[in-house]
Amino acid sequence: MTIEHTLTSEEALAGLDVDQLKQLVGLVEYDEKNDPFPVTGWDAVVWVVGNAAQAAHFFQSAYGMDLVAYSGPETGNRDHAAYVLRSGGVRFVLKGAVAPDSALVAHHSAHGDGIVDIALEVPDVDRCISHAREQGAVVLEEPHDVTDEHGTVRTAAIATYGDTRHTLVDRSRYDGPYLPGYVARTSTYRKRDGAPKRIFQALDHVVGNVELGRMDEWVDFYHRVMGFTNMAEFIGDDIATDYSALMSKVVASGNHRVKFPLNEPAMGKKKSQIDEYLEFYAGPGAQHLALATNDILRAVDVLRAEGIEFLATPDSYYTDPELRARIGEVRVPIEELQARGILVDRDEDGYLLQIFTKPVGDRPTVFFELIERHGSLGFGKGNFKALFEAIEREQERRGNF
Ligand SMILES: [Fe+2]
Repeated sequence: MTIEHTLTSEEALAGLDVDQLKQLVGLVEYDEKNDPFPVTGWDAVVWVVGNAAQAAHFFQSAYGMDLVAYSGPETGNRDHAAYVLRSGGVRFVLKGAVAPDSALVAHHSAHGDGIVDIALEVPDVDRCISHAREQGAVVLEEPHDVTDEHGTVRTAAIATYGDTRHTLVDRSRYDGPYLPGYVARTSTYRKRDGAPKRIFQALDHVVGNVELGRMDEWVDFYHRVMGFTNMAEFIGDDIATDYSALMSKVVASGNHRVKFPLNEPAMGKKKSQIDEYLEFYAGPGAQHLALATNDILRAVDVLRAEGIEFLATPDSYYTDPELRARIGEVRVPIEELQARGILVDRDEDGYLLQIFTKPVGDRPTVFFELIERHGSLGFGKGNFKALFEAIEREQERRGNF
């Protein structure tokens, strides 16, 4: 028996339909009946940054997002400024401290710009929290209602790795621009002539970097507390020994709408990219967000024109006969991918195109992936070697290798 997929309010607003989402992020059918922690989809990715006003400009001008809501001193929030941006079904909330004694100051001082909250839309906050508590999760916020003239949101929060949390949001009785306390706000920023309506349409996955030796504990956390299941992709010792060392497993919500690859560092010949992250983020945290696009070539061209830098892929990636054979037939000539440094991975279900940016902020921590899926439900395991080599060259330039 299968259950119809439900769109989150953001996805519906963005005009996405279920078939588009299936293609973009690889949804699967599943039976919600036995799910102890049903998840509708992503609600928001909440960032703490050093300067939210400037970050909001960056995500509009470079990443083509739209400003939709705001909270700050002008709206009665004397603690911080928060800008809500959207692209398709993706919502970012950028928070920066205003009050010198805001809790965000300490967060930013410890971690730099990064993701504090991977918020999820759920149909039943109380049911999720009661299951999570039973399973030993740390409940940071008890279920409660917040109300304004747009209606009522029921929300709660649980802790996950590091200083990261999952806020759970039921917004079925709410039609405001984001949450109570926020006002609708647009921007005077205008996209360039000919710019696409949006560069990316959906969030595919969020990767967490966790402590050495604790990946399986966190995999177990997502199994027990949130009812997530394992996806096939597993990066183990074979890759860890030869290339920048990491181990990785992937957990997903029942319908695969929400996917969390979890990395831990492994002993390698040199310092692992995960170790570098853990050092500069001062602990576990979200490593990269994969943004799903239906035209990765155009996305890369537009982002590059705005000054976004991507990891370089060696030409040998495209000329190596073994790799070439693995790539097979894709929707564009290989030369088009090579010109942009776009990677290809293939499995029994199809293929995917992907590329990774350099870190977003000053610290070598969080970065983006762009992903265009063509049937493959994977994460680019076959590209780890090529990707590692590229990241290692960057690490070397920073003197952290
Ligand atoms: Fe990824």
